[in-house]
Amino acid sequence: MATIRSLSAREILDSRGAPTIEIELQTAHGSGIASVPSGASVGAHEALELRDGDLSVYGGRGVSKAIAGVNEEIAEALLGKEFDQQSLDAFLSELDGTPNKSRLGANAILGVSIAFARAAATEGSMPLYAYLGSLDNRHSFTLPQPLFNILNGGKHAAHGIDIQESMLAPIGFETMREKVAVAMSCVGALSSLLKEKGYGTDMGDEGGFAPALTSNDEALDLLVAAIEQTGHTTEQIKLALDVAASSFYTEGKYVLKAGGERVMTRDEMLRWYSHTAQMYPVISIEDGFAEDDWDGFTALTKELSNQLLIVGDDLTVTNVGRIATAIEKKAANACIIKPNQIGSITEAIRAVQTARAAGWKIFASHRSGETMDTFIADFSVGLSCDYLKAGAPTKKERMVKYTRLMEIEEELHLV
Ligand code: PGA
Ligand code: ZN
Repeated sequence: MATIRSLSAREILDSRGAPTIEIELQTAHGSGIASVPSGASVGAHEALELRDGDLSVYGGRGVSKAIAGVNEEIAEALLGKEFDQQSLDAFLSELDGTPNKSRLGANAILGVSIAFARAAATEGSMPLYAYLGSLDNRHSFTLPQPLFNILNGGKHAAHGIDIQESMLAPIGFETMREKVAVAMSCVGALSSLLKEKGYGTDMGDEGGFAPALTSNDEALDLLVAAIEQTGHTTEQIKLALDVAASSFYTEGKYVLKAGGERVMTRDEMLRWYSHTAQMYPVISIEDGFAEDDWDGFTALTKELSNQLLIVGDDLTVTNVGRIATAIEKKAANACIIKPNQIGSITEAIRAVQTARAAGWKIFASHRSGETMDTFIADFSVGLSCDYLKAGAPTKKERMVKYTRLMEIEEELHLV
């Protein structure tokens, strides 16, 4: 238990130059700062990120209402009171009073939840990951397999391919340091290949390249070629995909753009995934169908779950209810955990527990609009998540997460 002594919020800018919220919280014997990331391909069922909507300021993306909510109503309700993580998160949910945190904002509430966790960890003289682990009765830790998003498309790139994220999974290496180094050498190789083929090497939102390739398959061919050019094999470095199919789903059809418009049915998408699983060293397909296309997910899981991970993101939105539905419908065998999809640490941990109880794999994830906060790295270790998505190791906001994992690895004497 910790008594809250002070709480304040301010505006900072995220990796896309959009405003987000930073929280500073002090307890009797500790303190914590937290900032909140923001998505671009946001699921319809996520908790609400409170934005001002005044189009003359940051195109409506200002966060002054969320900040005022923290500085006034939330601070007033919390100051002088004693909480643990669970009671704080429950109290904030109740104070908000809506099912999706739409009154005070999931961004405001999550910021307070994380800043409190940091303060509570300092009160207990524990590293943040150990504190988060203790909330799940976990006292030994493993590091996640990092997934490096080195080719950006979809909503994360102006002229990119349809697949939002084509990630490297360097599974054949021991340490985080080696994995980051290997990913960086693939970035170098991919850069040369793109230049050779006359493609641009501009970067997308998560620090991967965002070329206007002629097809989605070309992206995977290039990644395989880049891996091989580094002298490594596709046994050592696998691929992980986030199709983010909600972003190109309209009126019951999937409208792909790479190399010319192509309208695909659910069955055609399914055939494309079977072909992909057969032709490429892919270990996971995230959001292969739109967020409410349960039949698509169930068919994909039936067909490919013995070969790879079928991952829900917009489908499951870190929401215990939607994860339970997906388990019942056999619509996935893994899910993304993004604390800001649900708006509190306690609920994100419940989502992990629910998914794990069904034998699912857990992918902790940053957002495409990130800050320098490294919370998600500690969360991924504290909950011993199987994977962590934190973008390409080329931009500061992404690199700090991987650096934090290297630090924890040393601290745990894993190297
Ligand atoms: P977002 O994308 O942060 O832009 O929502 C990440 C993802 O879809 O996994
Ligand atoms: Zn996703």
